[in-house]
Amino acid sequence: MPRKPSAHKEEKPISSISSIRLDEGKRIFIRDLLNEKNEGKQVSLLGWVWRKREHSNDIFVVVRDSTGVMQAVIPSKLVKKPIYIEASVEITGVVTKDERAPGGFEIRASGISIIGDSEKYPISKDFSEEFLLDVRHLWNRSTKIKNIMLVREKVLAGARDWFASQEWHEVNPPILTGSAVEGGATLFELDYHGKTAYLSQSAQLYLETLIFPLEKVWSLTPSFRAEKSRTNRHLMEFWHLEGEVAWLDFEGILKAEEQLLTAMVHRAAEAAPKELAALGRDPEDLFRIKPPFKRVHYDEVVKIMKKSGIEMEAGEDLSSEHEKQLTAKEKAPIFVVEYPKKVKPFYTKIDQNRPDFVLSADMLAPEGYGEISTGGQREDDLDAIITRIKAEGFNPKAYEWYLDLRRYGSVPHSGFGLGIDRLVKWITKRETILDTLPYPRTLSRIYP
Ligand code: 4AD
Ligand code: MG
Repeated sequence: MPRKPSAHKEEKPISSISSIRLDEGKRIFIRDLLNEKNEGKQVSLLGWVWRKREHSNDIFVVVRDSTGVMQAVIPSKLVKKPIYIEASVEITGVVTKDERAPGGFEIRASGISIIGDSEKYPISKDFSEEFLLDVRHLWNRSTKIKNIMLVREKVLAGARDWFASQEWHEVNPPILTGSAVEGGATLFELDYHGKTAYLSQSAQLYLETLIFPLEKVWSLTPSFRAEKSRTNRHLMEFWHLEGEVAWLDFEGILKAEEQLLTAMVHRAAEAAPKELAALGRDPEDLFRIKPPFKRVHYDEVVKIMKKSGIEMEAGEDLSSEHEKQLTAKEKAPIFVVEYPKKVKPFYTKIDQNRPDFVLSADMLAPEGYGEISTGGQREDDLDAIITRIKAEGFNPKAYEWYLDLRRYGSVPHSGFGLGIDRLVKWITKRETILDTLPYPRTLSRIYP
């Protein structure tokens, strides 16, 4: 049964056209009207008022739908009441070629119905970034955010297809958890029926359990970090693409990561070239990215910083400034391979040849963007991992289930976690990570 329409101000009852409107098969999209094929045809277009100009006898309305924008020329005498920006409308008329119109075609309208009227739209020319965050539920309609969402969708489609082609299994790990993965400082704690629980920081430990039945697993989940500082690359809630593979060593996981990333950025370049170009990214930049990615050892990083006059003590973690310096002139991602043991979590595997180092690698995006993923080989020895858990100040009792993986048929294995928001930030050339998803969660903001 069709949904009952709500009461409406228009004279024309909405129910008389709702059967057409809700039937996707009969919907005409702007994308299909901007070419010769439909020239001269009578059409009925559904969309929102994007721009409006009034001339003596005509009103020029640029309508947008999910596929594009198109101009309609409406004789003023047909318009009974003001048309406001973002009102939803149905426009009927004939598709006509006109070089002055954006896209080269316009609708010479014989009628307009306002389906959902609009109040004075709050977003006009002069707005601050803070204001746009306040009205993000409306700003998400902007061409900029829409293009970013479309690129993001393609990137994820590329990942999904790559995993399927390599026979990795998609799994759904939990978000409510009882233990920390990435250190205690960024945990979001909550009351779980009288017990303490946390929002997941990473699905990694659960993915590690699932390699035993499935061997190659991946998941896409939100991860949560109570980050205490405001930066242009940290969110409280971010989208985490993670993978874990049995019988795979350090070099193996780096190869998988570079292939996956290549597939993702190539898909964006193939499927969203116009959106990328509108955002200032030449799709060719992405097509040029190919494995193998350059690898720089941590020792080398220390030397490079010394040469560039940027402060860095041997043994300390890389800061965003170090990453910026390392990648500013790069055109493709690079790996920093091996880190000092003390800057990486308890699960990283120690390099047998250099016991102060672990088999962990960060992938850094080029052009100064920096870290987008962290991966490596996992510690598979029971005693070694208990020592490391204690050294981080965690209670091994909370990790009994995880330790069981080292008790029952432990295998060499490796995995990674890639931040989708950071990846999108780089490929869409954004200054801030806040642009990369529709509702960014930040230190000071949970509205809207
Ligand atoms: O480097 P991280 O903390 O590594 C892990 O969580 C591993 N357990 C992943 C794994 O091996 N399965 O996080 C992985 C990636 C980072 O490289 C970064 O891209 C992203 O997640 N990330 C964030 N993105 C946005 N906001 C934050 N607060 C982020 N924290 C991490
Ligand atoms: Mg990391």
